[in-house]
Amino acid sequence: MDNKHFYITTPIYYPSGKLHIGHAYCTVATDAMARYKRLCGYDVMFLTGTDEHGQKIEDKAKEAGVSPQEFVDKIVAAPGGVLDLWKLMNISYDRFIRTTDGYHVSAVQKIFRKMYDNGDIYKGSYKGKYCKPCESFWTESQLVDGKCPDCGREVVDAEEEAYFFRASKYADRVRDLLLNTDFLEPRSRVNEMVNNFIDCEGGLQDLCVSRTNFTWGVPVDFDPGHVVYVWLDALFNYMTALGYQNNQYNDLEKFWPADVHFVGKEIVRFHSIYWPAFLMSMDLPLPKKVYGHGWLNFNGDKMSKSKGNVVDPYLLSERYGVDALRFFLLRTFPFGTDGNFTNELLIQTINVDLANDLGNLVSRTTAMAEKYFGGRLPVERQANPELDDSLISLATGLRARYEEQMEKFQFQNALEEVFKVIQRANKYIDENAPWALAKDMDANGVRLAAVLYNLLEAVRICTVLLTPFMPESCEKIFAQIGADAAAQSWDSAEKWGVLPADVQVRKGENLFPRIDMSKELEELERVQEEAKKAALPAVEIEPQSGEMVDFDTFCKSDFRAVKVKDCQRVKKSDKLLKFTLDDGTGTDRQILSGIAKWYAPEDLIGKTLVAIVNLPPRKMMGQESQGMLISAVHTEKGEECLNLLMVDGKIPAGAKLC
Ligand code: MSP
Repeated sequence: MDNKHFYITTPIYYPSGKLHIGHAYCTVATDAMARYKRLCGYDVMFLTGTDEHGQKIEDKAKEAGVSPQEFVDKIVAAPGGVLDLWKLMNISYDRFIRTTDGYHVSAVQKIFRKMYDNGDIYKGSYKGKYCKPCESFWTESQLVDGKCPDCGREVVDAEEEAYFFRASKYADRVRDLLLNTDFLEPRSRVNEMVNNFIDCEGGLQDLCVSRTNFTWGVPVDFDPGHVVYVWLDALFNYMTALGYQNNQYNDLEKFWPADVHFVGKEIVRFHSIYWPAFLMSMDLPLPKKVYGHGWLNFNGDKMSKSKGNVVDPYLLSERYGVDALRFFLLRTFPFGTDGNFTNELLIQTINVDLANDLGNLVSRTTAMAEKYFGGRLPVERQANPELDDSLISLATGLRARYEEQMEKFQFQNALEEVFKVIQRANKYIDENAPWALAKDMDANGVRLAAVLYNLLEAVRICTVLLTPFMPESCEKIFAQIGADAAAQSWDSAEKWGVLPADVQVRKGENLFPRIDMSKELEELERVQEEAKKAALPAVEIEPQSGEMVDFDTFCKSDFRAVKVKDCQRVKKSDKLLKFTLDDGTGTDRQILSGIAKWYAPEDLIGKTLVAIVNLPPRKMMGQESQGMLISAVHTEKGEECLNLLMVDGKIPAGAKLC
């Protein structure tokens, strides 16, 4: 058993407040993998943690009026934060690293100095484009439409003295690693990396690995004022957490090189190009594999806090249970490609797989064992190979088929194999019609006992294999079917006849109640909408443009007090109101304004408003508008609010505002 080690990691997360279901996706997958390997008998190290340095954190701490350390301490442990979410999702990590942990910080300093000493880090000066949210420098040619190629946001000009890592020196070795080994999976990501970053114009660029424009990072100990680039700091977590360059831990020999790093697709570049290059520079063994999984979108759109479309794992697990949610994530979406999360899909998966197939099988089997035998099966049974063998061979061969898929991180396919057996077992109930056998217990009792025993065995094998995905529910199923520790073991999953002949069954609660789709969808959407509103800022005001307008231009704008003589809705438009205004000239002025959402026309008659009167007239819905009414706009809980500027009725119509 000594050589059966398995080291798996998730990315370490930026502590950025409340996390969403997309964040949980990778960690749930890693957890299922870790649990699977433990069941197979491996000594597993499952590492996760938080990536706590960088300008973003420094800025946020400043905003909050606390030190960056206080800020991250609070946010990592906060409700909805990383630790809280992993507890909710039942994540069985073995070690948690924070990049602000002292042992990691001093290890990174030693690593940086070693790379400097061996000539792979050199001092230069950086001139180019900088993406502040990503904390990444880019050359002009790397930008996409002039924006950051990673996140698509604006970049700014930047110039600073900095240290560089000689990534270019390792270009050939990294290309070879990517093209000629299984280092990066799925294979579909390989070409993208090689073409865009190694075989691109100018080749693989040296990487800027220090910053001087902020201080919240690992200080370069031989050059005050420089802090280590977050990605160099963060990537080495995978080794410092095992004791590399520190005495905090001592598992390097046992677990390094890592078996697999699970990472989201947007950080594949760091893991498949720079990470191996750093390790080559340090003459260290490379991890065996990087697996770049896809992203979860919501209703076809990228989940993002600013769009207000993030899916809240707390809300969902409260309604359907953590196991259903874990299961849904890995059963529904192929791990290597993007997936589209919808509420319908979630409820449908729960109903079809968990309530109909698995839940039904367990409850029918245990209910019949209780009804016909008081819960304890008789020892005497009568086999019927013609009816039994196909179920038995499908179930005993399941473990091998499942393992084949799990070894390729194809969670969806592994679960598909399990559900084929569950569906076969449900069919076996119909084929054997236990209720008919029960009509004559003297003649058919022994056959009925065999049918129920076979069903219990099928349930048992499936439950062993579902344990990595739904640990708590599987424990409950084991209790219901009377499976002891031996009958829950990995070995037992390819054997038939493991439950004792006189197994004691206890029908328990219904584990996965069926959900009324249309009612639940309505309710879920309502609750999600409420939660979204509650999370939005109370009042949002558009930032000032900062662009100057010269005084003379401003003075040309003619603002006047205008009195509303008449106001009506414009036919066929749900936005426009038509105003007839007294502007002091003696001739009525007509202005159309898109404010019908906020005002009833009759409420405005007699009010004195403000209009700009020297705009060129324009046509709206076939009618002329001679100017524009001035209003104040802001956003409240995500809703646009508009208030017309009204002035004291004592001000005569036509008075100039200046
Ligand atoms: N701190 C870096 C990782 C450093 S690893 C040495 C980071 N952190 S993160 O918090 O921004 O992201 C953590 C993980 O969450 C990433 O793998 C990212 O791909 C994943 N996800 C964030 N949103 C996601 C979805 N909507 N769907 C799936 N995964 C996504 O990157």
